[in-house]
Amino acid sequence: MDGPTRAHASYWIETAPPGDPAPPPDGDLTVDVAVVGAGIAGIATAWELARRGHEVALLEADRVAAGVTGHTTAKLTALHTLVYDRLRRTRGKEGAHLYATSQTDAIRHAAGVVDELGIDCDWEETAAYTYAEGAGRTGELREEADAAREAGLAAEYVSDTDLPYPVAGAVRVAGQAQFHPRKYLLALVADLRRLGGRVHEHTRVVGLSEGEPCVLTTDAGVKVRAGTVVVATHYPIFDRALLFTRLSPRRELVVAAPVEESRAPRGMYITTEQNTRSVRTAPLGDGKRLLIVTGEHFTPGAGGDVEARFDTLTTWASQRFGDLTFTHRWATQDNDSTDSVPLVGPLHPRSRHVHVATGFGGWGLSSGIMAGRLLCDLVAGRENPWSELYDPRRVMSVVREGKEFVKHQSDVARHFVGDRLQHLKDSSTASVEHIAPGDGAIVHVNGKRCAVHRDQDGNVHAVSAKCTHLGCLVAFNRAERTWECPCHGSRFDADGRVVQGPAVHPLERRDI
Ligand code: FES
Repeated sequence: MDGPTRAHASYWIETAPPGDPAPPPDGDLTVDVAVVGAGIAGIATAWELARRGHEVALLEADRVAAGVTGHTTAKLTALHTLVYDRLRRTRGKEGAHLYATSQTDAIRHAAGVVDELGIDCDWEETAAYTYAEGAGRTGELREEADAAREAGLAAEYVSDTDLPYPVAGAVRVAGQAQFHPRKYLLALVADLRRLGGRVHEHTRVVGLSEGEPCVLTTDAGVKVRAGTVVVATHYPIFDRALLFTRLSPRRELVVAAPVEESRAPRGMYITTEQNTRSVRTAPLGDGKRLLIVTGEHFTPGAGGDVEARFDTLTTWASQRFGDLTFTHRWATQDNDSTDSVPLVGPLHPRSRHVHVATGFGGWGLSSGIMAGRLLCDLVAGRENPWSELYDPRRVMSVVREGKEFVKHQSDVARHFVGDRLQHLKDSSTASVEHIAPGDGAIVHVNGKRCAVHRDQDGNVHAVSAKCTHLGCLVAFNRAERTWECPCHGSRFDADGRVVQGPAVHPLERRDI
C-alpha cells in the first residue's frame, strides 16, 4: 500500500471548475437579506430567497463552497447514523417524524434542482446504510431501523451489503443520493447571480449591529445594510444566545483512492465502530471509482498525532478494500449539537431580523439544503412545519442533552484553564530551538505565550497563542500545519490568519 500522495487536496475542490471571480464590494451595500457564509446552508438560503424575488447579498470570507462543504464526504441522506432512536426518546414520535420528513424533503428538493437547472454533478441515487461489523451492535441497529421506519423512512434491517467485507447487521434506507457537492453549489451560485443576487468572496464579516436595518461590517470597513441577516458560517461567528454551550466541534479525516468498478460499493456506509468510519464511492471513468473513506474524528487542537491518524485510516481502508494507492487526503470539520438536532432559526430569543443555521453534526448536505428551505420561509414570514423542531431558542432539556452539555462544558473548561496550567508546566522545556522543521509548539517568550511554527526551510513563524474568539489556547496540528482551538474549533494558518471560525480576527503576530 502506498501512502497518501497529494497532501490535503479535497477531490471536490480539485475536480470542480474554479468558479467565476466574485470580488469584495467596492462600497457600502443595501439589500433585503445578507447571508454570511457561502457553504451549502448559505448558498441554499441565498438562492431560495433570490428565486422568490428577494434582493440578496452572499458574503464569504474565502471562496464559495471551498470551506467545510468543499471538504465533505458528500452523502445526501436522511439516515443519520443512529439519530432516530435517540429522537423518538427525546423529541417523541412527532419530532422524529418531522426530522425524517424535513431531511427527505431536502434530498427530493436537491434532485429537482439538479433536473431544473441541468446541473452536471455526478448525481447518483443509492441506498444509505448504518452498519456494524461486531455482533454486539446488532441490537441498536434493529432499534434504529424500527425508529427510522416509525419516523417515516423506508428503513429495513439487513445483513447483506455490497461492501467487500462482512457486516453483522445494518440499517438500510433506499432512495438516498450522492453527488459532487462543489459542482452542485457552483451551479447554484451561477444561478443566484443570474437572478440578480450579489456574491462577494474574500469578504470577512467582523461586526453585526441588529436593528432596522441590521448593519454588517466587513474587515475592509464596508457596511452592508440588510432587513434580515442569516449567519451561515458553520460555527456561528455571532453568538448572542450562548449557542457555543450547545455545539462541539469535531475534526475528521478523509482519504481517497481509485478502485476498480467491480470492487467498488455503490451504497453509502457509516459505522460508529473504530472511531467512526464512513465509506462511499464516486465515478472516475475508465472502469474506476474513487473510494472515499472518512473517520478518526477528534476535537480540533486535541487530535495528538494527526499524521498517525491518517495512517490508521489508510490501513483500515486497505485491509478491507485490498491494495490501494491513495491519491487524495483532506480533513473536514463538523459541529455536533448537544441534542443531535441542528439549530436553524432566530439567533436569540429577542432576535427579529437575524437567523442562524448551525449544528449539522456531519450531515451538512441534507441539513444545509433543509436550512435553506426553512430560513427562506422564516424570512418571508411563512409558516414552516419544521421551524419548532430546529428552533435554536428551544429550551434545553436534561433528557435531550444534559449529558452532552455537561461533557462539552467540562471539555471547554479543561481547555480554558487546564491547557494554561499545562503550558506553564511545559514552558520550562519548550524553546524555539527545539522545534523541528514542520512542527510547532507553544513557547514562553518575554513572559508571553507564543505559538511558534518552524517551516520546512527553517523559518520561524510566531503568533499569539490566545485564540481571538474567547481566549482559549491554540495547539498545533502538524499534519495540516494549522493552529487549532479546542474550545470551539477556530483554526489559523502558521501566520495567524483565520482559516476557520468562529474567530474572525487573526492571531497577533509576535516578533521573537
Ligand atoms: Fe472559541 Fe477559540 S474558538 S475560544
